[in-house]
Amino acid sequence: MSILPKAPETSLLKKCASVIGFSTTSDRFRKCLHLRRLISILESEALFIRKAGEEIRDQLYCFEDRGNRRVALRPELTPSLARLVIQKGKSVSLPLKWFAVGQCWRYERMTRGRRREHYQWNMDIIGVPDVTAEAELISSIVTFFKRIGITASDVGFKISSRKVLQEVLQCYSIPDNLFGKVCIIIDKMEKIPIDEIKKELRSVELSDEAIEELLQVLSIKSLTKLEEKLGAAGEAVADLKRLFSLAEKFGYSEWIQFDASVVRGLAYYTGTVFEGFDREGKLRAICGGGRYDRLLSTFGGDDIPACGFGFGDAVIIELLKEKGLIPELGEQVENIVCHLDPDLQDAAAAVATILRGKGQSVDLVLENKPLKWVFKRAARINARRLVLVGNSEWQKGMVSVKILSSGEQYEIEVDKLE
Ligand code: HAM
Repeated sequence: MSILPKAPETSLLKKCASVIGFSTTSDRFRKCLHLRRLISILESEALFIRKAGEEIRDQLYCFEDRGNRRVALRPELTPSLARLVIQKGKSVSLPLKWFAVGQCWRYERMTRGRRREHYQWNMDIIGVPDVTAEAELISSIVTFFKRIGITASDVGFKISSRKVLQEVLQCYSIPDNLFGKVCIIIDKMEKIPIDEIKKELRSVELSDEAIEELLQVLSIKSLTKLEEKLGAAGEAVADLKRLFSLAEKFGYSEWIQFDASVVRGLAYYTGTVFEGFDREGKLRAICGGGRYDRLLSTFGGDDIPACGFGFGDAVIIELLKEKGLIPELGEQVENIVCHLDPDLQDAAAAVATILRGKGQSVDLVLENKPLKWVFKRAARINARRLVLVGNSEWQKGMVSVKILSSGEQYEIEVDKLE
């Protein structure tokens, strides 16, 4: 495991952040950057320890630091975001649309699409109680998929709400404090035999009758059937119907399906939960998220409605490789600046500074290199123009510029370089 940043896929994930008004150039993004700085990769271990028996707790990379504090490398970003929102208090204007691409660590068995170190693109909306927020978030993921060439026949989203489970549990007077634990057990349904699941459910005091009812509801795959079972009056059905109707307006109905068995493995979700999956069923979940309206109070803050998702780089890369869709993320540098005489190295540095000061990107040639090498490098980094600092031009306060796509060449006063 390396702790040094190694982010081959992050620029791909960052691209998607700009898709839905989480604009990479807007004031909002600058605000985001400001907030992002406050999110650290090393956190207090307590931030990730919840009592519901989640897998993530056993996957923590944790240790005692030199000040005898228990700390952990973050396995996810959501608890840090919650803590940040509490710390910022009233200075955060709601709703807050927040995104980050951060490195996370989980001590997991390494399989295809599962690593001990991965990057996770997160988007969260804090302060919106209605499923419009979930609809907006799913829309951003769909937009991202479309932009990288993934279609609704490659990928889909399974969507449900934890309120479905809650309504069933309420019928059997199961106390609220067991809710998170039951969700964690149910989330293991595809990983361990059903008898084990039943045994675990019995161990949290669920009666056999409640277990049978629960399993029956979890097998429902259509909203109409769910409504027949739970009635139309409950929040679960109402929220889901609204979300599916919003999806129609957003234009991504074909990407989503109701599936009551989706509950997700983190204890803090309270409402909508969703997972992106590959339709061929070869890979693990591509991304996942949901509503967590009560996470803030578990850290001592006032609850604010919130929802979001995490989207790792490991599974999507596998899918893109399978489909032959790894995008070209060729860099484009505006200028390559090179001195033609060893004495002019400082002059070239000054030219680079002038261009950078005008907002241009510059690759400055640092050593004395032959022109052939400079042209090769320019092609490799996809530079738009070559700025040559040569003796005769420099005497006149000028440089020579070559537009690399057309071959056009001219001399220009250094001050007039744009
Ligand atoms: P999660 O389902 O634990 O949710 O992780 C979200 C995504 O991160 C997964 O779907 C997967 O793409 C990626 N991921 C997780 N663990 C690994 C791993 N070991 N190797 C590679 N990829 C991995 C969360 O983390 C929530 N905090 C998401 C969220 C944000 N919910 C609300 N806001």
